Amino acid sequence: MSDYDFDVLVIGSGPGGYVAAIRAAQLGLKTACAESRETLGGTCLNVGCIPSKALLHSSHLYEEAHSGALAKFGVKIDGASLDLDAMHGQRLKAVKGLTGGIEFLFKKNKVEWLKGRAAFTGKDTVEVAGKTYRAKNIVIATGSSVTPLPGVTVDNEVIVDSTGALELAKVPGHMVVIGGGVIGLELGSVWRRLGAQVTVVEYLDQILPGMDGEVRKEAAKLFKKQGFDIKTSTKVTKVERKGDGAVLTVEPAAGGEAQTIEADVVLVAIGRRPNTDGLALDKAGLAVNQRGQVDIDHDFATAVPGIWAIGDVVPGPMLAHKAEDEGIAVAENIAGLTGIVNHDVIPSVVYTSPEIAGVGLTEEQAKERGEVKVGKFPMLANSRAKTIDDTAGFVKVIADAKSDRVLGVWIVASVAGTMIAQAAQAMEFGATSEDIAYTCHAHPTHPEALKEAAMAVQGLPIHI
Ligand code: FAD
Ligand code: NAI
Repeated sequence: MSDYDFDVLVIGSGPGGYVAAIRAAQLGLKTACAESRETLGGTCLNVGCIPSKALLHSSHLYEEAHSGALAKFGVKIDGASLDLDAMHGQRLKAVKGLTGGIEFLFKKNKVEWLKGRAAFTGKDTVEVAGKTYRAKNIVIATGSSVTPLPGVTVDNEVIVDSTGALELAKVPGHMVVIGGGVIGLELGSVWRRLGAQVTVVEYLDQILPGMDGEVRKEAAKLFKKQGFDIKTSTKVTKVERKGDGAVLTVEPAAGGEAQTIEADVVLVAIGRRPNTDGLALDKAGLAVNQRGQVDIDHDFATAVPGIWAIGDVVPGPMLAHKAEDEGIAVAENIAGLTGIVNHDVIPSVVYTSPEIAGVGLTEEQAKERGEVKVGKFPMLANSRAKTIDDTAGFVKVIADAKSDRVLGVWIVASVAGTMIAQAAQAMEFGATSEDIAYTCHAHPTHPEALKEAAMAVQGLPIHI
């Protein structure tokens, strides 16, 4: 009999943790997963990716129906109105279905759910709900939570974080979003579409940090056209509750005259930070780095043998698919196989309208490393975009000037999030821009714009 209760004990059941647990069990390892939430699936399924995409879809339908935008297609809708309760009901249905689905998958794969908050009591022991478990391998997949803004208290009524912004019981008259990142723009879009006036206050001189420069400029232009008031290079110095709303004091980031803005709802979305509080990492002989993350090597192993870490709690982009891929890789490494994640090819998508997506290097990053060739193709010249009269955006392919190898792809287009998968796969296979240009693409489809952008790298696009 083994001295261990489990071969693998995963802490956290988000996209990193639940995937790691399922793959470990599939590989024949006796596996448990500790989760303190009432449902499985972590941030992503409960209060992140899934509910936000449900609301983005519903709010898009509402805006299309209500604004008269469909009339040009011969679809006239009079008196379209909002049933916010039904919209929230649809969101909750998606969340329930998917979190319940993970519970089903745990049962199917014989992963034991240890209900409660886990804390280390030693290098190979963890306590959950008053019981101590010994495991040969422990995977830290505790994810992240909202970064607080110093001096601002989130009450999730008037001053909300992303979770509160998913659950507003009525459409605010004026929503001020602090932070022009992914959450601010996605959830700002939801409430703007439903009728709110939305102001975004961003500390830096541009929104969407980390994305390609041209994409950031195009995105700001498109969001402003949609009615967003975007105040860049601006810092918030104070947020106070006043009556049913709040008053923000803002000033130029570089210093200068202060201004006040009144808001019905303030959404704080200035980033996320790793969850390690209460884990008692010290009992396992581990410490966090300066950014509060658990450091790992390329196998996802921490400094302590037998303890591994993945997902938002480790360095790298805080994205569900990155966490999932790391979950598979860590389980395979534990099982003695070779689990690898190519961190140079992690796509990212902002699910606004149009969508904004990228994979690999930005043009700025690529130029820092050497000479590049860039090909661009506007969605205005893509026949499918024309047929649906949704022609905003462009595709940009960045290739190495000598080898022609694709270094990065950036897309602003209605279905950029779907299109970017092809670019990621091409890059994973080490494709050149010529490989994409000479691949037959079905017509009429949006991905033809990617083919044309690749042809533009060669200097020979057909449709522009
Ligand atoms: P998490 O999903 O955060 O899961 C960690 C789990 O561990 C949590 O359930 C937590 O309760 C549990 N836990 C923590 N500590 C303990 C403990 N001591 N004991 C027991 N359990 C513990 N990413 C995308 O790729 N696409 C998107 O569209 C997207 N949309 C998002 C929208 C919003 C509003 C937010 C907030 C995030 C979004 N993200 C999106 C990011 C995505 O949710 C995260 O990158 C992803 O959830 C990280 O997965 P994880 O497994 O590392 O951690
Ligand atoms: P973010 O890092 O994307 O953006 C935060 C923004 O706030 C940045 O532009 C930053 O410059 C700004 N900022 C920071 N401090 C500020 C201050 N004091 N005043 C004004 N602006 C300030 O973070 P966000 O939007 O909170 O999202 C967190 C993470 O969640 C994302 O980075 C992403 O990893 C994940 N996410 C992913 C989604 C997706 O993949 N579609 C959707 C939502 C979240």
